[in-house]
Amino acid sequence: MEDLKVIILAAGLGKRMKSKTPKVLHPLCGKPMLEYVLEIAAALTPDKPVVVIGHGGEAVARLVGERAILVDQGELLGTGHAVMKALEAVPSWPPATLVLYGDMPLLRRETVEELVRAHLEGKPAITFLTVHSAESMGFGRVVRDESGNVVRIVEEAEATPQERAITELNVGVYCFQTEWLKAHLPLLKLHPSGEYYLPDLIAAAIEEKSPIRTVTLRDPEEALGINTRVHLALAEAAMRRRINRYWMENGVTFVNPEATYVEAGVEIGRDTIIYPNSFILGRTRIGENCVIGPGTIIKDSTVGDNCVIEASVVEGAVLEEEVRVGPFSHLRPGTHLARGVHIGNFAEVKNSYLGPGTKMNHFSYLGDATVGARVNIGAGTITCNFDGYTKHPTVIEDEAFIGSDTMLVAPVKVGKKAKTGAGSVVTRDVPPGALVYGVPAREKK
Ligand code: UD1
Ligand code: CA
Repeated sequence: MEDLKVIILAAGLGKRMKSKTPKVLHPLCGKPMLEYVLEIAAALTPDKPVVVIGHGGEAVARLVGERAILVDQGELLGTGHAVMKALEAVPSWPPATLVLYGDMPLLRRETVEELVRAHLEGKPAITFLTVHSAESMGFGRVVRDESGNVVRIVEEAEATPQERAITELNVGVYCFQTEWLKAHLPLLKLHPSGEYYLPDLIAAAIEEKSPIRTVTLRDPEEALGINTRVHLALAEAAMRRRINRYWMENGVTFVNPEATYVEAGVEIGRDTIIYPNSFILGRTRIGENCVIGPGTIIKDSTVGDNCVIEASVVEGAVLEEEVRVGPFSHLRPGTHLARGVHIGNFAEVKNSYLGPGTKMNHFSYLGDATVGARVNIGAGTITCNFDGYTKHPTVIEDEAFIGSDTMLVAPVKVGKKAKTGAGSVVTRDVPPGALVYGVPAREKK
């Protein structure tokens, strides 16, 4: 839509959040709430939106980066003032202006598109969004006459009991004719709260008989503006339902979607089953036909097809196909497990590669290790990779057999098909095919 510019208001302190973090940066399913609004703006028009910042402006600016024109509101004198500042900051402006609040992340793109289309068709002074909801959420009421024309918006505080009973509410999303907006913003009156209210423009338009149009939301959930942590939790639950529903519609089984937490940036393949109390976070990709959970946390990781991860924690790891993990293991950043690797219980792997078919089934630690194919890591094996100053690498070649309770004192290398006896402390490289044992380990001739 070429005729449109978007203003996103994000300067408010969000006092009711009681937080050091600016309200619009609080995450919803792993993504700052402002991010959702920025995505809508980007989908509507290639023209950069204007983001009005104030409280915590530097942090908000860092998130926004080059994606928008940033305007510092300075003194925060209300939503009307914020829009005025945005208009002043950009010299040339298209004929239509869409105003979005940074704290309404549940708004759907399709809804905003519908609003903008209605506006560009009819070209009234203002097109705004309303919603029918028995829950007033403190919103202004939309008063209409017998023929259904909007007469005015009455704020909850000033409404009569009859007006309070009106269930059509002002959501607070507006599309303006830019020239009309520019002419009328300076006429806004200061409220006793010390703010200029953007919604007052609706009354102004009606008073001078400028045409007004409304679009009504079908799903009241979209109108939820986040002012408190209670709203944040409600919005999180709503977004979670949306995300889970999307994946279920795309062939993923959720045994209990209410207790499964999938963040916004995740991808999941078909026929994967997710058991409850699992958290799939950040930029995680899960392949097809996997079994995840119960009780699994996966963050910023890639999981291939046909993997099983039970009651384990996986962060910053890459798992190829047919990998089994858990229960109760921890894969830390830099872990790469090749096809068919088995990690059993109470195992920890960090910054290590394990080759195809390698098994590490019982309470072991591998750090900074490169392990070949079909290696057996016996119970209780530990790479002693840290000497108190720096980390050292361990190399274990294909088909080696590491006996139970082996300490691999790095830097050290165990050759192809070599074996270590139970309880050995390996301080020197083991030649291919050799058997070493004892403390420190010696080669059996
Ligand atoms: C606002 C509307 C209300 C509507 C409700 C819907 C006004 C005066 N009221 O109330 O009619 O029903 O949203 O959610 O608009 N902001 C600035 N600069 C400011 C003040 C606010 O950028 O000086 C930003 C905030 O960061 C926030 C948005 O504007 O993103 C809305 O402000 P907020 O204080 O949350 O308004 P509400 O009281 O929710
Ligand atoms: Ca709000």
